[in-house]
Amino acid sequence: MRKKVTVIGAGNVGASCAQYLAESNLCDVVIFDIIEDMPQGKALDLMQAAPVRGYDVTITGTNDYKDTAGSDLVVITAGMPRKPGMSREDLLNSNIKIMDSVMEGITKNCPNTMILVVSNPLDVMTYRAWSKSGLAKNMVFGQAGVLDSIRMRTFIAMELNCSVTETQAMVLGGHGDSMVPLPRYTTVGGIAVTELIDKDRLDAIVQRTRGGGGEIVKLLKSGSAYYAPAAATVKMANAVLNDRKTLLAASAYCDGQYGLKDVYVGVPVVLGANGVEKVIELKLDDSELGELQKSATVYKEIIDGLAK
Ligand code: NAI
Ligand code: 2OP
Repeated sequence: MRKKVTVIGAGNVGASCAQYLAESNLCDVVIFDIIEDMPQGKALDLMQAAPVRGYDVTITGTNDYKDTAGSDLVVITAGMPRKPGMSREDLLNSNIKIMDSVMEGITKNCPNTMILVVSNPLDVMTYRAWSKSGLAKNMVFGQAGVLDSIRMRTFIAMELNCSVTETQAMVLGGHGDSMVPLPRYTTVGGIAVTELIDKDRLDAIVQRTRGGGGEIVKLLKSGSAYYAPAAATVKMANAVLNDRKTLLAASAYCDGQYGLKDVYVGVPVVLGANGVEKVIELKLDDSELGELQKSATVYKEIIDGLAK
């Protein structure tokens, strides 16, 4: 039987996720939004693209959580995006209320699903989704590290004028200004990027990666990025639905790894049919570990300050 994925929030990121999920023939897709008729309209539009795009999955739009029942995976993209000048953390007050209402619908209608969070501020929202879900920690995770890593890969390919497909990058930490791009774990064709790009240029790429979301917010002037975020999210969905056991950076619950406790933050994980099957502990040097711990502290403090 085909897998079923529900995408909560049919805005820019949610609709793009639905499109990429369908185009990958990965699963049937339910798109949920609170705006009446809008998800139904987007679902019908996507169904009508199928004959020429070559997919035959079913896409349904809904305003009723009952239609999410039986989902193998729920992707949560509901929430406000950033406007120019805003940080992701500025979205906290509005998006936490949205997350709580989403989790009420999910826990009632598909209590055993896995949950992939995209809404910002990502690491806080992922913790909130987990704490409201009653699910095991491995079943709830967040998307950010894949996006931040593919941004870094893109900038490296642009710098070297080489194929992006030959690049690999690892970006850990929270999805914010404190994220931790790791040049030591970044390669092109298997060669360490530190051997291919001068330190000054590499530092500039690290900074551009940290500001990658903001750069697009500034260009779009209203709303934030969605094509690359959706592509990153669907890569994670694929890992789960097809038990790919993909090693990637995801916001995952840390229970002592890297000296971090009771916090969701970006770390390398193996993602498969059981969600986060393993948190990989890299041998970070003192500076890298210090940056990761500092980044996690930002989100831990916000999480600890939230009303339960
Ligand atoms: P958008 O404004 O285009 O779409 C958000 C959708 O959420 C709207 O259709 C809205 O009606 C819906 N919504 C609002 N309250 C809801 C509720 N209670 N239940 C269900 N749906 C609800 O925004 P966009 O661009 O799709 O971004 C969505 C979120 O994803 C934002 O918080 C944004 O910051 C975040 N984001 C995260 C990324 C990441 O890498 N983790 C990357 C890009 C965006
Ligand atoms: C991004 O990095 C807004 O978090 C979103 O594009």
